Amino acid sequence: MRRQRLQLPAVQQRQHALLVCKNLSRLRPFQKARRIALYLAANGELDPTPIAKLCRRTRRQLYLPLLHPFSHGRLFFCAWQEHALLQPNRFGILEPCCRGNSRKPLRSLDLILVPLVAFDASAQRIGMGGGFYDRTLGKARRESCWKRPYLIGIAHEMQKVATITPQPWDVQLDAVVTEAGVYWGKF
Ligand SMILES: Nc1ncnc2c1ncn2[C@@H]1O[C@H](COP(=O)(O)OP(=O)(O)O)[C@@H](O)[C@H]1O
Ligand SMILES: [Mg+2]
Repeated sequence: MRRQRLQLPAVQQRQHALLVCKNLSRLRPFQKARRIALYLAANGELDPTPIAKLCRRTRRQLYLPLLHPFSHGRLFFCAWQEHALLQPNRFGILEPCCRGNSRKPLRSLDLILVPLVAFDASAQRIGMGGGFYDRTLGKARRESCWKRPYLIGIAHEMQKVATITPQPWDVQLDAVVTEAGVYWGKF
């Protein structure tokens, strides 16, 4: 799937990115969200750039994930100001330089846009295999009586597979949005 995703022509990549932005912008959880975390696309991942531009135009605060410095295998989220300096982490993925006060606890985010490698029609997700999002979001999910961010996967329709059997640690997404439509999670 990762190889196929990487082989998508640039024209299609751009087209999908715009259509996902359009489909997402019609959803209530997106319209209501003021603090939105997304990611910088790599390896053919659906590019959230049009979404980031829309968010900045509509004055929402954006956040990016960073590798947690102490808690192994976890991410944390930091405010992403436009034109901020970014630096590569140990996987070569760019991150903002995070100062203490721009770091945000999970519960204060309204929406997290999650990258994925494959998904199914009930919004089950397979990631890159590191379990980073599962570890980071699992706690928020378990404490579901508390306020937690809405979780939406964004992807190319070609990343859809017939069924994904979730593992006990896999975090269920609320929805997956592609250029072709929206898939809602089962709860
Ligand atoms: N909440 C968690 N606590 C401990 N280990 C976890 C947790 N979530 C995932 N893992 C570990 O991370 C590994 C990768 O998770 P997996 O779901 O396969 O990756 P991905 O979600 O990136 O596809 C698993 O072997 C699992 O043991
Ligand atoms: Mg997983």
